[in-house]
Amino acid sequence: MAPHRVGLWMYQNSGGTEIERKIVEKLNERNIEAITGLDLNNASANNGSIFCNGHAMEELDLFFSYNAGQQGPFQVYLYQTLSSMIPTINNYQSFELTEDKFRTAHLLKTHGIPTADHIVCNKNNIEELKEHLRFWNGKAICKPVNGWGGRGIIKLENERDLDLLKPYISEQGAPQFYLERVIENDFTDYRIDIVDNKYVACYGRKAGPGSWKTNITSGGSVFLREPSQEVIELAQKAAKATGLEVAGVDIIYDVEHQQYVVLEVNGIPAFATPDQEQSGLNFNDTKIAYLVDLMERTVTRRDEVRPEVSAMEFSPAEVAAPSSSVVKEKVL
Ligand SMILES: Nc1ncnc2c1ncn2[C@@H]1O[C@H](COP(=O)(O)OP(=O)(O)O)[C@@H](O)[C@H]1O
Ligand SMILES: [Mg+2]
Repeated sequence: MAPHRVGLWMYQNSGGTEIERKIVEKLNERNIEAITGLDLNNASANNGSIFCNGHAMEELDLFFSYNAGQQGPFQVYLYQTLSSMIPTINNYQSFELTEDKFRTAHLLKTHGIPTADHIVCNKNNIEELKEHLRFWNGKAICKPVNGWGGRGIIKLENERDLDLLKPYISEQGAPQFYLERVIENDFTDYRIDIVDNKYVACYGRKAGPGSWKTNITSGGSVFLREPSQEVIELAQKAAKATGLEVAGVDIIYDVEHQQYVVLEVNGIPAFATPDQEQSGLNFNDTKIAYLVDLMERTVTRRDEVRPEVSAMEFSPAEVAAPSSSVVKEKVL
């Protein structure tokens, strides 16, 4: 039988190349072929096939998409289509869900998982929120539902701030306005890495001087942090509720209500960078091992459910020219 084939698209900066090399090596040890660099930004689809770098993507047994920094609207568009044909990690449905903060918070609430209290309304209706804001003593955090790296997040200190925001909000393309209750915390968080519902690792992040955002891109820094069993279980519950195979769950401690709260679930949590590894974050090999186990299980399980698909022919001319990609650093 021909070996199974897994396609990969991974970030290459911050140690990504080395992580990818290890994943490929481990897959090869299990007689699984790996094709790297499958950037759907440069793919095209016709006649029921998706072509990327000369490969018919639907003939792969699995596609691993892990490149937040170069994600783009067209790539995501084809990722969605591809995920209806072959297994993907993450599965598209969960990936898409967790790209949206409101939908994730809503889901966590419906599963009884502590998360930030929130309200979303039509951006043309924000008057409605005044009452809610009063309930929160005039304080709230306003977030773009699809933001990253702490960008675009602002704190409202009183009702008047809502009026000041109005002109800005009406100019935004997004149809919704999303607010969260301010969670009193010590400006540190826990990032818990989960793969295949298994706990991989934990580290902490601490906001920079004068800041309340823990994101590295907002001046925060990483530190070693031991999680309690309670924190690990909360992260596992959150990852399971979202359905993500690979998840990075951000948790903060709500000082006022004395409980841990899931702030965010990330679908593309970064591996430790070489610098972070130097300072003691040594979870990369465990994460790779869990990931490769999951990949192997997924591709072998496919044999049980579908007959082998024969190779399709295509001409290289059908492969699209590279398109420009949106570059953003979202992993932390
Ligand atoms: N409701 C909140 N209460 C208190 N701090 C918050 C709240 N929401 C976000 N923060 C702070 O802002 C940071 C960024 O928020 P987050 O929702 O994780 O967005 P992003 O996707 O940009 O990281 C968090 O890591 C946390 O430090
Ligand atoms: Mg975050």
